[in-house]
Amino acid sequence: MNNFNFQNPTKLIFGKGMIAQLANEIPLDKRVMITFGGGSVKTNGVYAQVTEALKKHHTVEFWGIEPNPTVETLRKAIALGKKEKVDYLLAVGGGSVIDGTKLISPGLLYEGDAWNLVLDGKLINGFVPFATVLTLPATGSEMNNGAVISSTATKEKFAFGSTFPTFSILDPEVTFSLPPRQVACGIADTFVHVMEQYMTVTGQSRLMDRWAEGVLQTLVEIAPKIKENQQDYDLMADFMLSATMALNGFIAQGVSQDWATHMIGHELTALHGLTHGASLAIIYPATLRVLREQKGDKILQYGERVWGITEGFREQRIDLAIEKTENFFRSIGLSTRLHEEKVSNDTIDEILRRFNQRSAAYGENRNVNGAVAKEILMSCL
Ligand code: NZQ
Ligand code: ZN
Repeated sequence: MNNFNFQNPTKLIFGKGMIAQLANEIPLDKRVMITFGGGSVKTNGVYAQVTEALKKHHTVEFWGIEPNPTVETLRKAIALGKKEKVDYLLAVGGGSVIDGTKLISPGLLYEGDAWNLVLDGKLINGFVPFATVLTLPATGSEMNNGAVISSTATKEKFAFGSTFPTFSILDPEVTFSLPPRQVACGIADTFVHVMEQYMTVTGQSRLMDRWAEGVLQTLVEIAPKIKENQQDYDLMADFMLSATMALNGFIAQGVSQDWATHMIGHELTALHGLTHGASLAIIYPATLRVLREQKGDKILQYGERVWGITEGFREQRIDLAIEKTENFFRSIGLSTRLHEEKVSNDTIDEILRRFNQRSAAYGENRNVNGAVAKEILMSCL
């Protein structure tokens, strides 16, 4: 096991009816800006619950943080927050609203342009405290300090380090209104978050391996049931907590991490508009195919413990584990090949160019450069 520091300060408030707790969690003397997406919260009752809980607070609302939040929209939110002198933020939405709010928070204390903060975290002067009401299990953003922001002008999408939410409210009932495709993308995102922190080398930590495998097994068990009945509270509760636990640092303690699939996926989203989870379902099986030798021992462990593959020669077992992974994504209704999403060779060449330009070196061995990324993309064409 490698040395590590671990601290996660976010308070989780979980369960039916818990949005009402906003009333007590946010101090009454705060000037709160509530941030929203495109309006789903108005039709599923979340907005009504939030405004009821905060009826004694001073609030201002900012609407319109889009999927894959753009700096162009967030500049407007920062301007409004400065004008209204807000000193507390509440993000109500999925990963995009939460990530966007993670840029608004330092943006309110910064004089320059917010995109500078995405490109260079050293410019961050501090953070306005913020909390979240999560409506879409997927990103783990409700309990981590990362955020991913896009620039429409340059067709770029970059991750940056922000701060943790003070608290996050997770009521599984709010997921009942999710479109099935968003559920599928959320399951894929959660699955690949675990894989990025687990599918590296064997023998670093028995505990991390088994926690990671526990989340994967849970997803494999609940995914077909959720497809049958998305209104089942206990199923959605397990999904919601799995997504949070997949990317809040708990399963990453003392182990190597990969993240090459995410970096390639962000380019597909930036250049082609593909939804985040959908990009991962295509790239991840291809990453396993291309790096099967380097990751071979761990693929065998994964195959045995997650998919019950105990028979056959090494190479056959590895093949089967990769096939099961791709079939899992297909079973939840996602594409696993680029042509199905009409991504062409031009996009692949542009990703190669961008990776080369920034001397990209991703993955646990820092060997996923432009050429390897291209190999991965060609393997899922
Ligand atoms: O905008 P509204 O109208 O609310 O609709 C949203 C949006 O259109 C809708 N939605 C959300 N909750 C709903 C709902 N519809 C009905 N009922 C509900 N309860 O779902 C659509 C997608 O929402 P979005 O927030 O974009 O999805 P997600 O949570 O998957 O977030 C994706 C973003 O997070 C980033 C991704 O790159 C992407 O930009 N990620 C953030 C990470 C992090 N901060 O740690 C890690 C991830 O790897 C990921 O990169
Ligand atoms: Zn992700």
